[in-house]
Amino acid sequence: MGPSQLRNLWISSLLALGSGSGSGTVAVDVNLGWYPPRNTSINDLATALRGSGVYGFIFNSSESPDGQYGTYNWCNMPHVRKQEYVRADKEFELRYVEVIQRHHKRTPYASNAFPVESYHWDCDDQGLYYYGAPFGNDGRHPASGFWKGFRSSVNPFVLSGWIGTCQFPQITAPGLDDSFVHGQDIYGVYHELLDFLPSRHDDWRNKVVYRVTQNVITSQVAGMLVSGTWGTTDSIPLLVGAAGVDSLEPQYSCAAGSTLFSQIKSPADSAWQAHLDGAAEVYRALDDISGVPPTDSGFHASFDHYFDNLSARQCHAKPRPCKLATGTPCVDQTLADTVYRLGQWEYSHIYRDASKSFAASVASYGVWIAELAVHLRAVIAGEETPLYFHNVAHDGSVSRVLSILQIDIMVWPGMGSEVVFELYKRTHPSTRQLKPSPSGYYARVLFGGRVLRSSNPSLSVMDMLPAETLLAYFDGLVGRDAGFVVGKCNGTIKI
Ligand SMILES: *[C@@H]1O[C@H](CO)[C@@H](O)[C@H](O)[C@H]1NC(C)=O
Ligand SMILES: *[C@@H]1O[C@H](CO)[C@@H](O)[C@H](O)[C@H]1NC(C)=O
Ligand SMILES: *[C@@H]1O[C@H](CO)[C@@H](O)[C@H](O)[C@H]1NC(C)=O
Ligand SMILES: *[C@@H]1O[C@H](CO)[C@@H](O)[C@H](O)[C@H]1NC(C)=O
Repeated sequence: MGPSQLRNLWISSLLALGSGSGSGTVAVDVNLGWYPPRNTSINDLATALRGSGVYGFIFNSSESPDGQYGTYNWCNMPHVRKQEYVRADKEFELRYVEVIQRHHKRTPYASNAFPVESYHWDCDDQGLYYYGAPFGNDGRHPASGFWKGFRSSVNPFVLSGWIGTCQFPQITAPGLDDSFVHGQDIYGVYHELLDFLPSRHDDWRNKVVYRVTQNVITSQVAGMLVSGTWGTTDSIPLLVGAAGVDSLEPQYSCAAGSTLFSQIKSPADSAWQAHLDGAAEVYRALDDISGVPPTDSGFHASFDHYFDNLSARQCHAKPRPCKLATGTPCVDQTLADTVYRLGQWEYSHIYRDASKSFAASVASYGVWIAELAVHLRAVIAGEETPLYFHNVAHDGSVSRVLSILQIDIMVWPGMGSEVVFELYKRTHPSTRQLKPSPSGYYARVLFGGRVLRSSNPSLSVMDMLPAETLLAYFDGLVGRDAGFVVGKCNGTIKI
């Protein structure tokens, strides 16, 4: 990239503070360019193909050994907890927190099952409750009906794949436990440690918002998360966007974004093709054991399906698969680890290393980013706002957020992965030199409970970034109130 191109990436964004008209505007220089992630073993293809182990990551238990909390754990990613949480300096007062997390651990998706699954996976240790309750005051209340999966002995239309009473997917009983603990930890930090959220005994209901996607597994998590946080089993609203346009999953259609993601995962992308070519032997071994035909495009477009199948088993201490007909060979840990390394490489490539990844994420997740910006701006303007907003979403959602923030080391966001946006007012300025914020508001962003480091020089270490810088970055990419997103998705705004 030449210097003149670089200069063009710097825009001087006119950022209106507050949401009312007549509020002051301030010019903020912000760099909207894409910067590749750091070179590590994760995005090194040779290591992904021929390394050993998985970088010390955990894949076989929700428990991270004490002292190792913060280590990547696919089964239950680290999040903010009292034990490790680093408090902001006394000069800052916390004013708003927004969390986006991936759901907790679950059974695999049906699409990730091998053609013939020998393994029964039953979920009779929990109930998935579905009922509607009229809010009218006529004394008619529903019974708490729950789904009990069953297999008919006469229905000839037998599904291929997983056998058992679970839904594929559903959050498993231990995944529900992880969701509960996640909620407890949020309360531990933001009430017990910081006294920012109200106590469970005070009026917290109109100070917090929970949001889920159209996929019911996010609601399964939310129920346990809320209960863990607030110690209640009462009804609680969960905001949900409409099918087909929801911005959290995301579900809105974004042709230009989809095209870019498809190009990244195509032979035209030489690094992508090299990884598939390099992994031919890995595929042969897995196909032989699983019975997945080598022509199955779902399993061979990426390692996503094999990864999900194997990791879901290992997170639930279930056996790794063996060849059905002969009982051998089996997927050994070495082969499973190779799948896990390749999965990490793929996520780094799709969301960070490929130069198209940034524009693809900005277009396909721009609406949610704009919604976040609206929330932050309302707090800065002094409007009545919730203190806390919690989004329960998916790996594709968290990945796009990390892509837009240009995290310096990208990983596949595991179960329960969490990004926290904390907005502070600098109420008691010390003599410490900080970049000036005309509003006095600063943002800190945490991933896995730790400060997120961005490859983009305007964001860099996201620890007390002037709110104006973060908002100018968001506005510059997606437009105020998502003003650029439709155009970026339909191709009228070049991305
Ligand atoms: C990573 O390595 C590649 C190839 O050597 C190089 O082109 C690139 O600049 C490096 N990226 C970073 C962020 O250092
Ligand atoms: C999980 O994996 C690690 C290393 O891969 C191993 O040391 C440990 O014994 C395993 N734990 C369980 C419960 O299987
Ligand atoms: C997962 O592994 C098990 C064990 O072989 C197998 O039965 C199942 O079909 C596999 N599913 C996937 C998606 O790999
Ligand atoms: C694309 O979106 C813009 C709004 O940004 C709209 O004005 C334009 O008509 C759309 N074009 C097409 C071809 O849909």
